[in-house]
Amino acid sequence: MISGFTVAIDGPAASGKGTISKAIAAHFGFAHLDTGLLYRAVGAKVLAGMEPTQAALELVPDDLENDALRTPAVAQEASKVAAIPTVRAALVDFQRSFAARAGGAVLDGRDIGTVICPEAQVKLFVTASADVRASRRFTELSGKGMDVTFEDVLSDVLARDARDMGRVDAPLRPAEDAAQIDTTDMAIADAVAAAVAMIDTKI
Ligand code: CDP
Repeated sequence: MISGFTVAIDGPAASGKGTISKAIAAHFGFAHLDTGLLYRAVGAKVLAGMEPTQAALELVPDDLENDALRTPAVAQEASKVAAIPTVRAALVDFQRSFAARAGGAVLDGRDIGTVICPEAQVKLFVTASADVRASRRFTELSGKGMDVTFEDVLSDVLARDARDMGRVDAPLRPAEDAAQIDTTDMAIADAVAAAVAMIDTKI
C-alpha cells in the first residue's frame, strides 16, 4: 500500500480540477478530498447566520454531505469566508491529516500545493479560459435544474477568481514546482491521461 503519497491539484473555479481529481483517485485507488467543500460548508453556515470562524471550528464531516453546497450563492460566500485567515487556519489540520492517510490522497483546491501540502509528490495547476470554465459550470448547474444564465455564471466565476487571487492569505497561484495543465482546448479525458502519466513517473 502506498503511504503518504499526496497529489495536490489547484486551479481557478470550474477549471476541471474536480473531475481530474476524482478520475485520478479512482485510477490509483487514492482517497479524494474536494477542499472547496470545506469553504462552501462554512459559507453555507454563515448564510444561515453563524460567525465564520466559529463555523469553521465546528465543521464536521457530515456538513460536507449537502447538495445545497453547490449553488452559486454558497460559492460566492465560500470565497468571502476563504479570505479570513482564522477560517483558513481552522481547516488546516483536517486537510493535512487527510493528505497523510495511508493509501495515498488527492486534494484539490486553491492552496494545496503552496500552503497545505508543499511537500506533495505531485502538484498540478489546472487552468482554462474564463469563457470555457463558465460554460462548463453553466452546463453543470443547469443540468441540476438550477435557474442560472451563462452571464451570471461567468460573472460569478470572475468575481471569485479575483477574490481568490487577490487575498493576502494563501492566494490562488501555482506552486513553483507545479505542472500546469490548460484544459481550454483539451478533453477532460486527455487531461486525466496527462495527469496519470505524470503521477506514474513519481510512484
Ligand atoms: O468548484 P469550484 O472550483 O467552483 O469552487 P470550489 O473548489 O468548491 O471552491 C469554492 C471557494 O472556496 C473558492 O472560490 C475559494 O474561495 C475557496 N477555496 C479556497 O480558498 N481554498 C481551497 N483550498 C479551496 C477552495
